[in-house]
Amino acid sequence: MATPTEIQARADAIQWFHSIPLGDGVVTKGLAEKALPESCFPDVSGKSVLDIGAWDGYYSFMAERLGAGRQVALDHYAWGVDFVARGAYWNKCAAEGVLPDQSLDLTDFWQPDLPGRRGFELASEVLGSAVTPLVTDFATTDIEALGTFDVVFYLGVLYHMKEPLTCLERLRAVTGEVAVIETEAVHLQHLEHESLAQFYAGGDLNADFGNWYVPNETGLHAMCRAAGFTSVKTVLGPPLPGPMQPESLPTRLGRKIGKIPRRDHLSAPSVRYRAVVHAFP
Ligand SMILES: C[S@@+](CC[C@H](N)C(=O)[O-])C[C@H]1O[C@@H](n2cnc3c(N)ncnc32)[C@H](O)[C@@H]1O
Repeated sequence: MATPTEIQARADAIQWFHSIPLGDGVVTKGLAEKALPESCFPDVSGKSVLDIGAWDGYYSFMAERLGAGRQVALDHYAWGVDFVARGAYWNKCAAEGVLPDQSLDLTDFWQPDLPGRRGFELASEVLGSAVTPLVTDFATTDIEALGTFDVVFYLGVLYHMKEPLTCLERLRAVTGEVAVIETEAVHLQHLEHESLAQFYAGGDLNADFGNWYVPNETGLHAMCRAAGFTSVKTVLGPPLPGPMQPESLPTRLGRKIGKIPRRDHLSAPSVRYRAVVHAFP
C-alpha cells in the first residue's frame, strides 16, 4: 500500500492539467485555472456520463464521486500530442509570421504511447475509478458506435473546433438528457441581443493556434438551437457590470509613453469570460 508521500511523488513526476484531489491530502499540481463548481452541473447520480475532452479526468472523477453510472472519458489530442515539440514549432512559426501546419499534430508530434494520459491513469488507479478511457477524435469518430449518454460534458472544447456547428450537431446526437457546454465567450456591451461570434486566427487568442470561434451568449444559444437542441439555459453568463478593473503595470507604463490608447470602458467594452450552458435535446 503506497503512502500519501509516495503517491504525491508519483503525481509530481507528471505534467498535469487538472488539480485533482486524490485523498489523504494528495493533490495533483494542474496548470488549469480553477475548476467549475459542482453547481454548474446537473444531477448525475445514476446517469450515464460522457466527458468529451476529459484530459486528466477531473470532471469524470467528479461525476463518479457524485454517483454517476456508466462513464466514458474521451480524448485524444492532449493525450497524444507532444506539447513541448509542438510549442517550439509554434513559436518558430509565430516568429516567422507564418501559420503552423496543424496536421503535424497527428504525424510528427503524435506519440502513440499517449504520455499525456498518464495523469488520467494515475488518478484512476489511486481513486479506484471505473471510468473507461476512450482515445478518439470526437469531431470524426463514429457517433453511432459511441451511442448516447444521459449527460454529456463538452467543457473547454468548442472554441478549439474549426467546425463548431457540426461538432454541436454531433454533441446533440450523443446527448440523451442534457449537454453541459463550457466555452470561452465574449460579452460585447450594447450588442447583447445580436447573435455573434468572434473569429480568431493565427494564434490571436491566448497565443494558441488551435483557438477559433468565441461566441457571445446569444450566439452560443443560437448555435446550440441550430444544432438541434430544443432549449438552452445559461448557467454561467457574462460578468455583471462593475467598476473598471485596475490596469496592469505594463499597460499603465505603455500609456505613459503614449503607446497604448485609453479604452473607453463604458462605451466600448468587450469582455471575454467562460460561459456554461445546459443544452437539452
Ligand atoms: C482546454 S482542454 C479542457 C479539458 C477539460 N475538459 C476541462 O474543461 O478542464 C481541451 C480538451 O479537449 C480535448 N480535445 C480537443 N479537441 C478534441 C476532439 N476533437 N476530440 C476529443 N477531445 C478533444 C483536448 O485534448 C483537451 O483535453
